[in-house]
Amino acid sequence: MNQDELKQAVADAALAYVEPKLENDTVLGIGTGSTANLFIDALGAIKGKVNATVASSQASAERLKGHGIPVYDLNSVDKVDFYIDGADESNRALQLIKGGGAALTREKIVTAVAGEFICIADESKLVHTLGQFPLPVEVIPMARSHVARELVKLGGDPVYREGVVTDNGNVILDVYNFPIPQPLTTEERINNITGVVTNGLFALKPADVLLLGTQDGVRTLYPE
Ligand code: 5RP
Repeated sequence: MNQDELKQAVADAALAYVEPKLENDTVLGIGTGSTANLFIDALGAIKGKVNATVASSQASAERLKGHGIPVYDLNSVDKVDFYIDGADESNRALQLIKGGGAALTREKIVTAVAGEFICIADESKLVHTLGQFPLPVEVIPMARSHVARELVKLGGDPVYREGVVTDNGNVILDVYNFPIPQPLTTEERINNITGVVTNGLFALKPADVLLLGTQDGVRTLYPE
């Protein structure tokens, strides 16, 4: 199977995972990116069973609405039962790098509310040590140079993602050449830089389960 087929397999597996758990008042959190898009499209087939979703980006909200699936503002729901989203990298503890699609802040907010975070990814995303994928950092525009200098002090190589403005009106710095052996410490340290909105490490609140698309089928991984 190629990468797109593996993504489709995990999107289908995520639907099979949540569908039996759906109740009238279930709120689904929906992520952003090509894997999440496949899940949204799969959800369209059972839209009558989905009464409420919240989306981690305007793009995902539009895609959900296109399928006739109700989308709510996070402030108008009192819980999110499940959050389904992709990742750019995961380690065995299910600590993630996210934000390749620039939606990291809203993704982290929905993750914070979610009862269960179901990550869906193809096997290329599973790594031993995070950091081969450049770490996205969302930054208030006027702080961009300051934050970049601070990231260099931490040992990274930040690059401004040209032409990208997040749904929150901010910019993204991608930190290259930055292995992350201690994701918890690094997540906190970068978030403490003045001008950072958040960074793409999901270590303080990792995924609860990873549905991983492999050539031998979809594997269900829990944090080690
Ligand atoms: C978007 C994300 C995505 O989940 C991540 O980039 C993975 O994307 P894809 O499913 O297209 O590989 O964090 O901000």
